[in-house]
Amino acid sequence: MYRTKTCGELRLANVGESVTLSGWVQRTRKMGGMTFADLRDRYGITQLVFDESKDEALCERANRMGREWVVQVTGEVSERQSKNRNLPTGDVEIIVSELNVLNESITPPFTIEEQSDGGDDLRMKYRYLDLRRPNVRRNLELRHKFAFEVRRYLDEQGFMEIETPVLVNSTPEGARDFVVPSRMNPGQFYALPQSPQTLKQLLMVAGMDRYFQIVKCFRDEDLRADRQPEFTQIDCEMSFVEQEDILQTFEGMSRHLFKAILGIDIPTLPRMTWADAMKYYGSDKPDTRFDMKFVELMDVLKGTGEFSVFNEAEYIGGICCEGQAVYTRKQLDQLTDFVRRPQIGAKGLVYARVGEDGSVKSSVDKFYSPEVLDNLKEAMNAKPGDLILIISGPDTLKARKQLCELRLEMGSRMGLRPKDKFSCLWVIDFPMYEWSDEEQRLMAMHHPFTSPKPEDIPLLDTDPASVRANAYDMVINGVEVGGGSIRIHDAKLQQKIFEILGFTPEQAQQKFGFLMNAFKYGAPPHGGLAYGLDRFVSLFAGLDSIRDCIAFPKNNSGRDVMLDAPGPIDQSQLDELKLKVDLSEE
Ligand code: AMO
Repeated sequence: MYRTKTCGELRLANVGESVTLSGWVQRTRKMGGMTFADLRDRYGITQLVFDESKDEALCERANRMGREWVVQVTGEVSERQSKNRNLPTGDVEIIVSELNVLNESITPPFTIEEQSDGGDDLRMKYRYLDLRRPNVRRNLELRHKFAFEVRRYLDEQGFMEIETPVLVNSTPEGARDFVVPSRMNPGQFYALPQSPQTLKQLLMVAGMDRYFQIVKCFRDEDLRADRQPEFTQIDCEMSFVEQEDILQTFEGMSRHLFKAILGIDIPTLPRMTWADAMKYYGSDKPDTRFDMKFVELMDVLKGTGEFSVFNEAEYIGGICCEGQAVYTRKQLDQLTDFVRRPQIGAKGLVYARVGEDGSVKSSVDKFYSPEVLDNLKEAMNAKPGDLILIISGPDTLKARKQLCELRLEMGSRMGLRPKDKFSCLWVIDFPMYEWSDEEQRLMAMHHPFTSPKPEDIPLLDTDPASVRANAYDMVINGVEVGGGSIRIHDAKLQQKIFEILGFTPEQAQQKFGFLMNAFKYGAPPHGGLAYGLDRFVSLFAGLDSIRDCIAFPKNNSGRDVMLDAPGPIDQSQLDELKLKVDLSEE
């Protein structure tokens, strides 16, 4: 037997017991005739004591132990003289009588403690060592608990977990696919699923009624803190439901998760239309932990003064930052630089400070009369001591996005976005389509299987861009944690949607024939949604990047630096697959 107890469970009540522990040596300290070591396993850390006066040979062996050696010790649990309040086991220590080295370790490339001295790249390369750090391990524990509670809730609601294949067909309209060549079908490729969307719809046609799956999805897209090329969805689908049924069921799941994992009771989720989200927050995933809503200022500032930038603008909007009139010129210049960064792309920033006497001092004073500036103050509902920040532009959508970035920046600076405060909502009534400049055509905003709102169906013929979808996202703290829709279950309507997306009937048949044919055999009305598990867990754990809750993540270039993947394959493998690699364009 390697151990009778773990390193995390010993307390004062165990004093006097003889125990055997196994684990990793975190560090050793020699003090006079005593050697102390911290022994670590998944459950915690326990201090070991080797006393030279009791057993010199044993102590000598202990002094040879290096960091990360794997050892087994037997000894008596004893009360510690100087207690360590930072450790749950800090009241006790083991007076070691037997030491058995199970394995030695070469010196690790970074310290394996809560605060490591290793940089990101190094820790990614030795991820198996990084995972020994308690804080990283805790994220995986939370992830496990989260997935477990998801399964518990959905099982109780009658959902059945069904696996779907990983080698599937390539479908257009999403991100780029990862593809896998087929040896048995030369020149042909599987695609890895971007989500099991069409398969779960086929499961509804198959009568499964309530499906879910915690499933890997693959998307070849540019990476960000909340995106990985392979990530995990909690994918769900239900039959004979309307939007309201889905919102209720999954609001229930979120409530269960918050309570079971964080002990938090969340209030009923407010619902915001996509149009309002864009109007008041410039984003379809507003961070509603704080208010600071946009106020549109076209009436107040366009054509009411000599400022040509505003007079030519298609959009002028402002936010009111409470108590921030103390901002210095230098701080305002920094903010201007912030919105001018290429990623944000604003031309500039206009500000107005409201003095303690209620007077307004603005960077565009000379263009506007005091009455107009007073109107501005009133429109913004600004009080003495407040700072008004204004963005304008020739394109409403772009200007709103810029103002959104500014709002988030101010929210952060003002400490209004604490990680332990949660604000959840549903964003509903998304448009069916969005215009793609790149493709010069309408694209499905969610995906091509999303149903239009019944009352908007006539607009499909006259003004498709204005059609709203039965689609919804769940947003928490400005993160889109999940999204879904009621699907089209009518083959004819589906055909029409494909037409609007620019597919000829032949192309639609070739790409989606399997689904449209299935719909001819009695498809039930159905709908669903998928959560991003990594994003949800990261929010619960207060992480900046979803990478930190994934055991073996990819870096920002999509590489697994530990496995050194992707990498070349042997010529013989290429030959077998009938593939030729041509890098001449590189
Ligand atoms: P969607 O594309 O919105 O919908 O994805 C659902 C959720 O998955 C998460 N997500 C990601 N997480 C990490 N890295 C990524 N690259 C990534 N991409 C998406 C997000 C998102 O809300 N089949 C539909 C769902 C449905 O209609 O039922 C779908 O995949 O949290």
